[in-house]
Amino acid sequence: MNILVSGGTGYIGSHTVVELIAAGHSVVIVDNLVNSKIETLDKIEKISGVKPTFYHVDCTDLDKIEAIFKLHTFDGIIHFAGLKAVGESVTIPLAYYYNNLVSTINLSQLALKYKVNKFVFSSSATVYGDQKVPFSEDMALLPTTNPYGETKAMSERILRDTASVNKDFHVSILRYFNPVGAHSSGLIGESPNGIPNNLMPYIQKVANKKLPILSVYGNDYDTPDGTGVRDYIHVVDLAKGHVLAIEKLVDPVEIYNLGSGDGVSVLELLTAFETANKIEIPYKIVDRRAGDIASSYADASKAYKKLGWKTHKTLIDMCKDTWKFEKSNK
Ligand code: NAD
Ligand code: WQD
Repeated sequence: MNILVSGGTGYIGSHTVVELIAAGHSVVIVDNLVNSKIETLDKIEKISGVKPTFYHVDCTDLDKIEAIFKLHTFDGIIHFAGLKAVGESVTIPLAYYYNNLVSTINLSQLALKYKVNKFVFSSSATVYGDQKVPFSEDMALLPTTNPYGETKAMSERILRDTASVNKDFHVSILRYFNPVGAHSSGLIGESPNGIPNNLMPYIQKVANKKLPILSVYGNDYDTPDGTGVRDYIHVVDLAKGHVLAIEKLVDPVEIYNLGSGDGVSVLELLTAFETANKIEIPYKIVDRRAGDIASSYADASKAYKKLGWKTHKTLIDMCKDTWKFEKSNK
């Protein structure tokens, strides 16, 4: 297939591009580089032997995106492009609604116009809100606590409504749990600028002595050790899920959780990182972070049944690959 990957120089997008190429697909990337670097293309080439065609274009710019559809014939679209910082979305909601929703609307409109009938969308476990774990795809979606989460729920709705009246247009909605880790080459991964919001990037900066100590947000949750429980998934396993999702997309709307199905606490992740990399991570317990829930993990059985997909990488792999990437990108 010839696949348009929006956000393909980003964290999950770049790993997915590598797996798409390995599976024999051609890739065209569109990214405005608001949260990624052009050098990622060279790294993708080093890993896969192929430098994908790249357009430095914003997905909210309909005319410029349409120009790309006029130059290429696509069999499918994988739409990663979006802003993703939960806290920032609370302070600049309009920027998040505009960027994430207009991008999804533009790409869907062009998919219909140019008869690109396979559309895979990056959603998030955040759409489940706070309900009983494990989360399964047939559960109702609850309002999230932030505009970012709402852009995911709204994008899902836009795509479902579009697919329901356009019979040839098939949509796969992938709800990611907590992606972490990096490519085993150490070439691509995630290393945010400034102070990270998410746990694994924070741990890797403490390990690298760029930050002095990890703050653990609360140890009084109703979880085995009192700290928050999440479902961490290695980004390479996640990337492979996208390849299967687009290759096997046949129903009008398919929704899959992409997670390991295992709940891991903050302290368990911290200990795994220490064990995997033989580095001590200093930490202190502080107040809960506003908007956090106690537990989030997947019922991942549907993706296994329908796509034959499951995770293979362990928590130790996630920690080792994260550290390898952090060290090689000092
Ligand atoms: P990322 O920021 O590394 O990648 C997103 C890419 O999209 C970046 O390269 C950015 O430059 C680009 N982009 C943003 N807005 C754009 C626009 N208007 N036009 C063109 N390019 C644009 O993030 P990621 O972690 O790789 O996430 C990819 C997708 O997965 C996002 O939609 C995100 O919301 C979703 N997601 C991520 C996580 C996570 O924890 N990382 C979890 C669930 C869902
Ligand atoms: C994990 C656990 C924190 C940082 C977020 C988004 C979600 C999705 C994935 C995009 C929690 C604790 C964290 C720290 C800590 N992204 N923590 N100290 O909140 O599950 O999910 O990223 O879709 O939408 O909300 O991930 O990594 O921020 O937190 O103790 O410095 O680590 O309280 O229990 P989260 P996270």
